[in-house]
Amino acid sequence: MVKNIAVIRGDGIGPEIVEQALNVLNKVAELYGHTFNYTAVDMGGCAIDKWGDPLPEQMLKKCVESDSVLLGAVGGNKWNDVPGHMRPEKGLLRLRAGMGVYSNNRPAKIWKQLADASPLKKSIVDKGIDFIIVRELIGGIYFGEHKTEGDTAIDVLTYNEKEIERIGRIGFETARKRNKKLCSVEKSNVLDSSRLWKKVMHRLAEQYPDVELSDMLVDNCAMQIVKNPAQFDVIVTENMFGDILSDEASMITGSIGMIPSSSLGATTCGLYEPIHGSAPDIAGKDLANPIGTILSAAMMLRFSFDMPKEADAIENAVSAYLDAGYRTADIMSEGMTQVGCSRCGELIISNLRKE
Ligand code: IPM
Ligand code: MG
Repeated sequence: MVKNIAVIRGDGIGPEIVEQALNVLNKVAELYGHTFNYTAVDMGGCAIDKWGDPLPEQMLKKCVESDSVLLGAVGGNKWNDVPGHMRPEKGLLRLRAGMGVYSNNRPAKIWKQLADASPLKKSIVDKGIDFIIVRELIGGIYFGEHKTEGDTAIDVLTYNEKEIERIGRIGFETARKRNKKLCSVEKSNVLDSSRLWKKVMHRLAEQYPDVELSDMLVDNCAMQIVKNPAQFDVIVTENMFGDILSDEASMITGSIGMIPSSSLGATTCGLYEPIHGSAPDIAGKDLANPIGTILSAAMMLRFSFDMPKEADAIENAVSAYLDAGYRTADIMSEGMTQVGCSRCGELIISNLRKE
């Protein structure tokens, strides 16, 4: 198959982690007889420097016209003082909205090889950590009006039934393919938007009798994720709650550097990115962990290109690399062999086999 991939290297460690993911994709193409064409897209701080805009229109166009987008990371202290509407993160938000990718899927799964890296007690980790956060990505407070007037700042949080229903469906469908347990997370004891959220989820539940729906307040959920993560199968929640809970969920798996994500909308053109940031402090030092980006590329093959065998091959290669005892600095532990970003990529490629 021939696929056109828009590639956003971004800022900080973005370029080096993306390079490793592209090397992996090239090896997959060679093994399976595919052609992946890459189109470079500027977004984030580097686009501000070059174009004076974190996501110029022609760059968004390249993404929308691609078969999918692979993204490293954007942002950094260098752009801290630029006005809010020009920040590197604004480019990312405009990209998500422009692509219409309302559904963000963030798995929290512990690799058996990294169980010791979890900050949770062994007795909790041993019960298993394997759940998915389905986060609404293009609505809510992120996309409401933002303004500052004198000593008052305003951010508006709005959701309508249609927006809730479409992400709710993804939550139910995701749970249906797994252990059939969906936990809807909101703050219905305080927020109107959350009361609407809860109402729509329960209405949808009638169409998914095989899925067990539960409700949880977001503050309680934050606590339950560290107390008893094994209780969760799929969590569905709004944009900002999902942002916060997914950082928490990634941390309990031991390394935020390992977690990929997919964002999809009405078409198969998706946005794939690791959930970590641009880590400017270690940029250019060959220290970053490229696995979150490599696994994001695997998700792209699975969800957007219908290449499940190829995706399995990448995930198995990552597992074999960990089995062999190699670790980047972020997950280094006693007795393991420390490697840099590029060596990590090479070793994963050396473990890639046609399944
Ligand atoms: C994430 C990030 C982004 C978000 C930032 C960089 C805008 O934290 O993808 O979780 O808040 O969505
Ligand atoms: Mg975040």
